[in-house]
Amino acid sequence: MDDTFAISNQKTTIPKEYIWPQKDLDLADEELKEPVVDLQGFFNGDLEGTQHAAKLLRASCLKHGFFQVINHGVDQNLIDMAHLQAKAFFKLPMSEKQKGKQQLGSKWGFSAAHAHRFSAKLPWKEMFTFFFHQNGSNDLAAVDFFESFFGEGFEEIGLVFQKYSEAVNKLSLSIMEILGISLGIDRSYFKDFFEDGNAIVRANYYPTCPEPGLTLGIGPHSDPTSITVLHQDEVGGLQVFVDNKWKSIRPRRDAFVINLGDTFMALTNGVYKSCLHRAVVKKKTERVSLAYFACPKHDKTIKPPEELIKEDEPRKYPDFTWFDFLSYTEHYRADSATLQNFIKSLP
Ligand code: SIN
Ligand code: FE2
Repeated sequence: MDDTFAISNQKTTIPKEYIWPQKDLDLADEELKEPVVDLQGFFNGDLEGTQHAAKLLRASCLKHGFFQVINHGVDQNLIDMAHLQAKAFFKLPMSEKQKGKQQLGSKWGFSAAHAHRFSAKLPWKEMFTFFFHQNGSNDLAAVDFFESFFGEGFEEIGLVFQKYSEAVNKLSLSIMEILGISLGIDRSYFKDFFEDGNAIVRANYYPTCPEPGLTLGIGPHSDPTSITVLHQDEVGGLQVFVDNKWKSIRPRRDAFVINLGDTFMALTNGVYKSCLHRAVVKKKTERVSLAYFACPKHDKTIKPPEELIKEDEPRKYPDFTWFDFLSYTEHYRADSATLQNFIKSLP
């Protein structure tokens, strides 16, 4: 059976492969509202505004690694266009989308509810994923992706995602600087790991689901990458595990949700945290989210700054490269492909 059958046909009951264990399905009845960090002061070079932003980031990153940013410098029209293009893409016939189907063992391309690295069960979603990089001004990683995976007729979406990724890359580098400031270290320390603009860019589409209480759009996981810059449409569905319970993050059109991944946690010697999150689905409303996962230069050693290593706080993680960790995550399922297990596997 085609693995997309269940979603495209909108059957009234969902196949058992999509039914998640009860422990992953607990409802969220609270919201995580704080902090919403205004970046205007930072962009204006205003010392007080920057310090205030850094202080808010610090408090949330010491605890759970989730925050939102506003006045982030990414053009609202560009964000809206990226959502429109993604929505139009997911409305295409399955046969069109499957032309760029993700190949076994690869994370690039279109995929529809296949066994995913984060899943004990199948996620109720479709997505497309490409590798973005910005080494030179002539790079058109997003345009190349759409052309080579889906053929002709995808120029517009390619160009929009190219511009969107470039803008979000810029924002991610600014956030790296504020994260440096928030830890009292050289503000370019983290940024230096990311200047190539390597990223995994993904659009997630969560179709409506007849039994939303039984399944998940994406199961509980922490991101293996460094920082994730996410924009949700107006529907909502992102939830974070904080204080031992699931809390939802209400979407704001003017905000990006930022969360720290495991590699960033290692870059801070475990001082800043990555945390579990998931996406729930809805009965009557489909949802789109756009995720930009900033990745360090592939072969640069992940090492915290000296200031974060102390006699009573020795190194928590040995040296590793993002390339090696990424390769590891491609070979194991999420339950086992954690940073901890990867570290244990090192010689
Ligand atoms: C993810 O964590 O990969 C996606 C979350 C979302 O769609 O809100
Ligand atoms: Fe995630």
